Amino acid sequence: MKTSGIVVLSTLLLLIPLATSHPSEEAFVECLKNQASMSPKPISQAIFTPKSPEFVPTLFAYFRNSRFNTTTKRNPTAIITAMHETHVQATVICTKNHSLLLRVRSGGHDYEGLSYVSSEPFVILDLFNLRSIDIDIQAETAWVQAGATLGELYYSISQKSKVHAFPGGVCASVGTGGHFIGAGYGNLLRKHGLSVDNIIDAKIVDVNGKILDRKSMGEDVFWAIRGGGASFGVILSWNLKLVSVPDVVTFFRVEKALEEGAIDIVYKWQEVADKLPEDIFIRLQFQYRGAPVNKFKVAFIAQYLGKIETLIPMMNQQFPQLCLKETDCIETSWVETTLLWQEMDPKKTNLTELLNRNTYPAFGPSPFKVKSDYVKTSIPKLALEELWKKANQTGNLVMQWSPYGGKMSQIPESDTPFPHRAGYKFKIQYWYYVSETLVELQKVYDFMATYASQSPREAFLNYRDLDVGTNGNGCDPSVFGAKYFKGNFERLRKVKTEFDPDNFFRNEQSIPPLSA
Ligand SMILES: Cc1cc2nc3c(=O)[nH]c(=O)nc-3n(C[C@H](O)[C@H](O)[C@H](O)COP(=O)(O)OP(=O)(O)OC[C@H]3O[C@@H](n4cnc5c(N)ncnc54)[C@H](O)[C@@H]3O)c2cc1C
Ligand SMILES: *[C@@H]1O[C@H](CO)[C@@H](O)[C@H](O)[C@H]1NC(C)=O
Ligand SMILES: *[C@@H]1O[C@H](CO)[C@@H](O)[C@H](O)[C@H]1NC(C)=O
Ligand SMILES: *[C@@H]1O[C@H](CO)[C@@H](O)[C@H](O)[C@H]1NC(C)=O
Ligand SMILES: *[C@@H]1O[C@H](CO)[C@@H](O)[C@H](O)[C@H]1NC(C)=O
Repeated sequence: MKTSGIVVLSTLLLLIPLATSHPSEEAFVECLKNQASMSPKPISQAIFTPKSPEFVPTLFAYFRNSRFNTTTKRNPTAIITAMHETHVQATVICTKNHSLLLRVRSGGHDYEGLSYVSSEPFVILDLFNLRSIDIDIQAETAWVQAGATLGELYYSISQKSKVHAFPGGVCASVGTGGHFIGAGYGNLLRKHGLSVDNIIDAKIVDVNGKILDRKSMGEDVFWAIRGGGASFGVILSWNLKLVSVPDVVTFFRVEKALEEGAIDIVYKWQEVADKLPEDIFIRLQFQYRGAPVNKFKVAFIAQYLGKIETLIPMMNQQFPQLCLKETDCIETSWVETTLLWQEMDPKKTNLTELLNRNTYPAFGPSPFKVKSDYVKTSIPKLALEELWKKANQTGNLVMQWSPYGGKMSQIPESDTPFPHRAGYKFKIQYWYYVSETLVELQKVYDFMATYASQSPREAFLNYRDLDVGTNGNGCDPSVFGAKYFKGNFERLRKVKTEFDPDNFFRNEQSIPPLSA
């Protein structure tokens, strides 16, 4: 009995590598070298395996959330830091051939680490070397490679023009690759919509390793990649339509504590923030301010596409409760507001700080977890008081409330996969610096169930949160599908089924093909 058991076992062991063609690292590297043999840049310089001395620093360079820094999840078979588009093509072909999972990383800001961790055997395709930015100011367009950051984009625009901008997020180190496939928004959204509302073409690598542009991928795929997430291919570059901004814009930041009437002012903000002229975007940021303030406060942080002389009368008329004064305001250029939004003083900070890929204070040792909500009707004052108390008690929660309205209300829900358009007052981001557990965050989120959007309780894809539902393990993907995409989920599944039927481009929250 024993002997035959061993015989069966050893036969099985012999068969396994053949049956599943499970890769050795060497075979995978060989495949890459073969596939990219015609590349003008040798791919060998872009390949890092666990044996390479630079493997660990390369892995951690864009490992932005230490919550996932566990020994079981951070073991890619290889990291390919593509230096040429052919390296991306080779990586797709060989990763597929060796039945590995592909994780594409542009800026590494995914809140759930989906661009750099996995418990399945995987490969990281890191795009930070592919970051050229080509601006045509006459045509008011730009081609941006996916590995460029938002800061690099904003800086490059400012070097060509003082009256052009691009609508995108606040944090300079965010990658344009991941940001735009998740729709991308920032403080220009009431005037100009989302990033994806201003994207006119793209270059992608499909599951067969082919490079396609808008024309060759077709309008359905071009629709899907503008907000549908990492399910369709690798984005190489985006073609952007720049927007116009005045040469002088106004920024302010006013903080209020509880005893300064914060609740009443927040209540009023809910009534007006989405109805004010689309030239103004006033975000609320609730957080504990350390020494010397030592208090939980709400900041009203705003950008106005105009001068102080027209801002103050407008505010006095439409939002007098904030008591905005001229001395609260700074007149500056659009690009300098991108520093101000990151709490950097343009008078003391060289604009080249936008090119610094490693400044954002959120990073470092603190692990974090994020959740999101959409709000359609004003939250009553009593509930605001209760929320204030709960948020203050966690000590570790930063809440951002971003107003909608303006351009957002004019774009139909089906124009892009991003469905949260007309009828939303604001979006909430709950950013929680994890101490020991997530219980405190969950308490706040549970409390907000009554006041947030319902059936489904919607969420924002770029604020990735695996709690809203995942693929696999018996989970129904239509659960997270409805929360992120509403009615657009079905169209995304159809596009996926045609374009990547075997589900090569997948993660815990990717669009599953219809057969799956
Ligand atoms: C500090 C901070 C501030 C933020 N502020 C904003 C904000 O103002 N507005 C906003 O909308 N969002 C904001 N976000 C969220 C951010 O937009 C998302 O996390 C976004 O996905 C990050 O893109 P990335 O390229 O940096 O991330 P990555 O982690 O590299 O990628 C995110 C996802 O996209 C996939 N992906 C990345 N590149 C490609 C590619 N080239 N082709 C195909 N798939 C790809 C990844 O596999 C992963 O699933 C912020 C995040 C942080 C950490
Ligand atoms: C991950 O943890 C290791 C220790 O296990 C540490 O050396 C490394 O700096 C950490 N990296 C990140 C990005 O958290
Ligand atoms: C991988 O490539 C080899 C050699 O080209 C081929 O024979 C094999 O079928 C491929 N396997 C997969 C899973 O694509
Ligand atoms: C900003 O930094 C760049 C590059 O280091 C330098 O050339 C430039 O003079 C600096 N500008 C200012 C205003 O200090
Ligand atoms: C906020 O939290 C601090 C520290 O836990 C506490 O002393 C204070 O009373 C709280 N304030 C409110 C309004 O809940």
